[in-house]
Amino acid sequence: MNVIENSKLTVVGAGAVGASVAYASLIRGSARHVALYDIAAERVEAEALDLAHGSQFIGASDIVGSADISVAAGSHVVVITAGAKQEPGQTRTELAGVNAGIIRGMVPRLLEVAPDAVYVIVTNPCDVLTVVAAEAAGLPRQRIFSSGTVLDTSRLRWKLAQRAGVSTSSVHAYIVGEHGDTEFPLWSSATIGTVPILEWERPGHPRMTLEELDHIAAEVRDAAYTVIRGKGATNYAIGLSSARIVEAILQDQHAVLPVSTVLDGFAGVDGVALSVPSVVSASGAVPIPNTPMSENERMQLRASADALRGVIGAVRS
Ligand code: LAC
Repeated sequence: MNVIENSKLTVVGAGAVGASVAYASLIRGSARHVALYDIAAERVEAEALDLAHGSQFIGASDIVGSADISVAAGSHVVVITAGAKQEPGQTRTELAGVNAGIIRGMVPRLLEVAPDAVYVIVTNPCDVLTVVAAEAAGLPRQRIFSSGTVLDTSRLRWKLAQRAGVSTSSVHAYIVGEHGDTEFPLWSSATIGTVPILEWERPGHPRMTLEELDHIAAEVRDAAYTVIRGKGATNYAIGLSSARIVEAILQDQHAVLPVSTVLDGFAGVDGVALSVPSVVSASGAVPIPNTPMSENERMQLRASADALRGVIGAVRS
């Protein structure tokens, strides 16, 4: 990856997720300069030192870590991962109250040192916290969004690629809606290569049934619970997903990614952040208004919005 000269990423939060975002960004060469910020000075300095010790084996990127927020000065992208994480069996929305307070307190301080950055919320519940952050920041809605279902879409493509016997990069399917329990796949537009998903077959890989596809989607929806039960957290795949989003911004790629922005009349949804395929570039994320969706999929998107509206109201009060 050709690192864009003087591009700067700041990752806020030096826990497992934040460190993984920094690690993935360094390995992929997502940014020329990576800064890690956390209030826990000893932790953030140690994480940055550990990452810097591998500098010989990565490209031209460099890494610094500090408990002084000025380390974020001049960032082009700020990825926020700070906050409480899901415990085994806990839903993401149960984190809303405590993490909304952290985001509300942090965003204005970050804007003082990085006023021109694009902000990406990873802290969960990322959709709800995108609304909170957008209200705290007063930024144009395209400049503050969340990683949303980029990770879920990667999980889906990996599962489908295994079942279909093809490369993950040849699976064109999206998970949209909440990054959470009401997420759902856009089966109506899913293809493998140019073949509609339900018509795909090749030797050793018979056609999939809708029932089988929905079972795969349920496994994707519950994937984080499975990983958290086994190792206490998820971090590698969200780190890679976030690095991918950072690249689309820093390299002004105009890449289509299912990030979560505060929707404005999309399929009848207003004022709630949900993931739909969006164009991600140096100016941020813009949902694609003519994303094809069946009536059932539009209904599921509205159901996802209804599920989050109550949580948004609760953290506002
Ligand atoms: C997950 C976390 C990032 O889905 O919400 O792994």
